[in-house]
Amino acid sequence: MKVLITGGAGFLGSHLSEAFLARGDEVLVLDTGSIAKVRHLLNEPRFRYVHDSIFNVELIDSLVARADLVYHLAAVVGVEHYVGDPYETLNVNVNGTQNVLKAAYKYGRRVVFSSTSEVYGRNPKVPWKEDDDRVLGATTIDRWCYSTSKAVGEHFCFAYHKLGLPVTVLRYFNVYGPRLDKVDVGRLFTIFIGQLLRGADLTVVGDGSQTRCFTYVSDAIEATVEAGINPAAEGFAINIGTDIEVPVIEFARLMLELYGPAKSKIRFVSQEEVYGKSYEDIPRRVPDNTRMRTLLGVVPKVSLREGLQRSIEWFLEDARQS
Ligand SMILES: NC(=O)c1ccc[n+]([C@@H]2O[C@H](COP(=O)([O-])OP(=O)(O)OC[C@H]3O[C@@H](n4cnc5c(N)ncnc54)[C@H](O)[C@@H]3O)[C@@H](O)[C@H]2O)c1
Repeated sequence: MKVLITGGAGFLGSHLSEAFLARGDEVLVLDTGSIAKVRHLLNEPRFRYVHDSIFNVELIDSLVARADLVYHLAAVVGVEHYVGDPYETLNVNVNGTQNVLKAAYKYGRRVVFSSTSEVYGRNPKVPWKEDDDRVLGATTIDRWCYSTSKAVGEHFCFAYHKLGLPVTVLRYFNVYGPRLDKVDVGRLFTIFIGQLLRGADLTVVGDGSQTRCFTYVSDAIEATVEAGINPAAEGFAINIGTDIEVPVIEFARLMLELYGPAKSKIRFVSQEEVYGKSYEDIPRRVPDNTRMRTLLGVVPKVSLREGLQRSIEWFLEDARQS
């Protein structure tokens, strides 16, 4: 099978590429980003990296025509981006997504769309089932543009599904692991690991009581592959993540413990200090992952301790080599 992965040179895309190559499939990656996360795959004859954008509609058309299955992961991701550049976030995540869906519809190709737990916004009634409400703030607050952009992408997916396109929407919950982001930027793990490596204090926003369900990448990838090959997943949105709720302060403490002797301590900082006025934190973020377990048959296997240990080791080795 030939699998097209837009955004395939990113964190999840690089792991997804490995998973399909390991199954014996061919992988075509379309990404505007650096080759750093897929460099180790470039000599693999069944892997091809096309350095271009989902805004190149002719190219998208020809790549989708050649693929049996399409994963659409390309997106503007990360708080610093969607607070810093809401235009680009909306443009890539909404208009770019339409380009991919249009081509998939033209050729009748199955699509798996990467959405996010952010679509639930700050709905206080956790755990969130896939059909639960979206509770968001005002459009003058930039932080909601990512959630909205992904929700629009989902609406397009379901609209195309009504027209006959086989499509599955996956909502990821805080996936982490090797190759996540550059240290010091992106998501919680890479910000903390950057601070640990520099001997700086771990900056916990607010009082650290906000919770997340951290999902190790191999569990998320197992579910992602299954979503593309299991016909039972067609037409559904599916939460992808563990349902083990962890306060951010505990996550920081566990990273300190696993990193070993470090100069770093925990320092509490205000939300505004880190993200400016256009940010609002989500107090609790917990999936109901019944659909992932029953429809996809995937049960998360890697504990937070084990996943953090593996990730810290990978980032330490990476820092030693660079
Ligand atoms: N990792 C998570 O915890 C998580 C959580 C929720 C949702 N997601 C979703 O999963 C997908 C992958 O996320 P990730 O964590 O691997 O992020 P990532 O930033 O590592 O990957 C996104 C990739 O998209 C590429 N891209 C951006 N604009 C593009 C364009 N115009 N054309 C082609 N490629 C483009 C980037 O270069 C990058 O490699 C995203 O759609 C994201 O919204 C991830």
